[in-house]
Amino acid sequence: MGNFLIKRWSGLFTRVALGPMNTFPEIVGHEEIKQIFSNAMCSKRPVHLLLIGSPGSAKTTFLTQIMRNRKDTYFVVGSNTTKAGLVNQLFQIKPKFLLIDELEKMNVSDQTALLHLMETGIISETKINKTRQTELSSWVFATANTCVRIIPALLSRLVILEVPSYNIEEFLKIAVNRLARENVGKDIARIIAQKVWYDLGSRDVRDVIKVARLSNSVEEIPFVIRMLNRKYNVDGGNNN
Ligand SMILES: Nc1ncnc2c1ncn2[C@@H]1O[C@H](COP(=O)(O)OP(=O)(O)OP(=O)(O)O)[C@@H](O)[C@H]1O
Ligand SMILES: [Mg+2]
Repeated sequence: MGNFLIKRWSGLFTRVALGPMNTFPEIVGHEEIKQIFSNAMCSKRPVHLLLIGSPGSAKTTFLTQIMRNRKDTYFVVGSNTTKAGLVNQLFQIKPKFLLIDELEKMNVSDQTALLHLMETGIISETKINKTRQTELSSWVFATANTCVRIIPALLSRLVILEVPSYNIEEFLKIAVNRLARENVGKDIARIIAQKVWYDLGSRDVRDVIKVARLSNSVEEIPFVIRMLNRKYNVDGGNNN
């Protein structure tokens, strides 16, 4: 998709959007999601997005690509955040884009800290008898595997985008692209991706990377796949 110019007759905003490919050069496919991110980033007023999808579907990669391409970002992982820490960083960094990976792992009291920011742009903090307050214009971009542990008030402030699962053609294309970064040629990348898809029954690009890193030759690929196929039963022991 190329660059484009959007003019709204209402005069609310006029914007020139950079093509999504400029922001997400490492991500193969997901063109519609790229477009929405691109539009959100060009919007004059905050729009908050939540990417929902299965493991290995490029959700974190969307956030890390924004982080690499923009200076005005602050990246946090839901499970490592505390309300006090988050609010403090917002006061200090005043990011335009607050990137929250694994939002469903953020505890409820920390999630509530985001509500006011997303609704009004105001953050405030009271410590003993001191209160500080500031106004931010921040876009929240978050990811999660599921909506289940995200509080409804927060969900209602987010645009929820479901990341579609890959078909085999997309999976092969991603594998070729991703393994090129590991100096694995196209033909071998396709062999690995096909084995991961059909023999391992996996749709996770991470499995492609694991097999590539563990195989010293093409001949070794079936052996590595066999080893990965030995599922470990978390209730106590090996299934095979
Ligand atoms: N469409 C894609 N284009 C390029 N690389 C991809 C794509 N999908 C997955 N990958 C690769 O797969 C790996 C996992 O991606 P990522 O960490 O973004 O997944 P995730 O959706 O955040 O998974 P999780 O839910 O487990 O956190 C990364 O190495 C990433 O480069
Ligand atoms: Mg992730």
